[in-house]
Amino acid sequence: MAGILGPRAIFWAFIVLATGTCTRVLQSLLEGCEDLWLDEQDRKLYAARNSLESRKGWSPGGNLYNISARSRTDHIAVIDVDQPGSDGLYGLRQLKIGGYQDDLDLHGFDVRKIEGRLQFWLINHRPPVDHVTGEFLDALVVGANSTVEMFDLDETSGTLEHVKTVASEAIFTPNGVAVEEDGLGFVITNDHNTKTGTFRDLEMLSGGGSLAYCRSDTGRCHIAADEGFSMANGIAHDKNGYYYVANSASGIITVHKLVNNELIHVESINTGYPLDNLWLDADGNLIAAAFPDSIAFVKSSMDPYNVVAPATVLSINDIAKQLKTSGKNVKVSKLAEDRDAKSLPSSTVAVHDTKDHKLILAGIFSPFITICEQCL
Ligand SMILES: *[C@@H]1O[C@H](CO)[C@@H](O)[C@H](O)[C@H]1NC(C)=O
Ligand SMILES: *[C@@H]1O[C@H](CO)[C@@H](O)[C@H](O)[C@H]1NC(C)=O
Repeated sequence: MAGILGPRAIFWAFIVLATGTCTRVLQSLLEGCEDLWLDEQDRKLYAARNSLESRKGWSPGGNLYNISARSRTDHIAVIDVDQPGSDGLYGLRQLKIGGYQDDLDLHGFDVRKIEGRLQFWLINHRPPVDHVTGEFLDALVVGANSTVEMFDLDETSGTLEHVKTVASEAIFTPNGVAVEEDGLGFVITNDHNTKTGTFRDLEMLSGGGSLAYCRSDTGRCHIAADEGFSMANGIAHDKNGYYYVANSASGIITVHKLVNNELIHVESINTGYPLDNLWLDADGNLIAAAFPDSIAFVKSSMDPYNVVAPATVLSINDIAKQLKTSGKNVKVSKLAEDRDAKSLPSSTVAVHDTKDHKLILAGIFSPFITICEQCL
């Protein structure tokens, strides 16, 4: 449980080891991973892989709408986190896709184990298509046709079997997704207020974004919160029914609870850093990937093979308990930092393995992921 080791102890351990035991895993099947999901029990890591080339042209969240630049190779990659193997690639492989004909254009995703089976909810930034002619529409004008794709994993064959597409007007600029324990309800963050247009960039300053609440069974969604966001990005859900939302532009994590189908705002936590994805670890610590140097991050997005941006990983230890006792004055700790960008990627996601004390990081503009052993 959290608390046995204070954040300082963890931070120390990490600094000591950051030089030695953080391993970069560099392989094209693992590049551009915006989001990760760790199966602690079965010791597997799932990564939403995008090609970096593709990202430079087709990245609706980043105002890039060149449909023909898509490499159409996005997939879910899997590694065995405890078994580096002789090639150091941790048994890297790619899940096959069944029952879904189009290409995937991945972003955030979430996974739940339900009745022993892994179920995936993947954000998919489809190019817009004219339903009469079948031709692509001008995405610069209409934006992406983003959806959530639900898949079941058939572990024996390593295939994601398509279950359904959730398409809704409430899912317009999706970025992250968080699924409830039973897999029935899920929430997506919209990072902007509009799909395209001149004023989109100004949302960095003026704020923007919303939360859509969806049901997996009916496939229906509605906007459940649309005020007070500032580029709503990563999202995590906990067993107490709280949703934690990382607001990239303001560095604030907003806390929400579902009441009468609305995601009411409960608390705001200022981290002081631009943020990306969130991961709630098995001990209830909320882990956030943060950008200590936004300019370097933008540079790395333009030249991902040569420029790595510094990364910071924040933790709010036992967040549910802290919220109860301290409200907005919860303690935000630094779990890891790589100021010189020596071992960590330009990170958009960090997951913490409470079983074996690993920290695994990846980034949408990074050609590699990093696995750190903390040896605690
Ligand atoms: C879109 O991408 C294609 C393929 O990479 C490229 O040839 C084309 O020049 C790009 N178009 C624009 C407007 O950048
Ligand atoms: C968006 O995707 C949905 C789900 O496949 C489809 O029904 C709809 O026609 C698409 N719309 C556009 C504009 O591409």
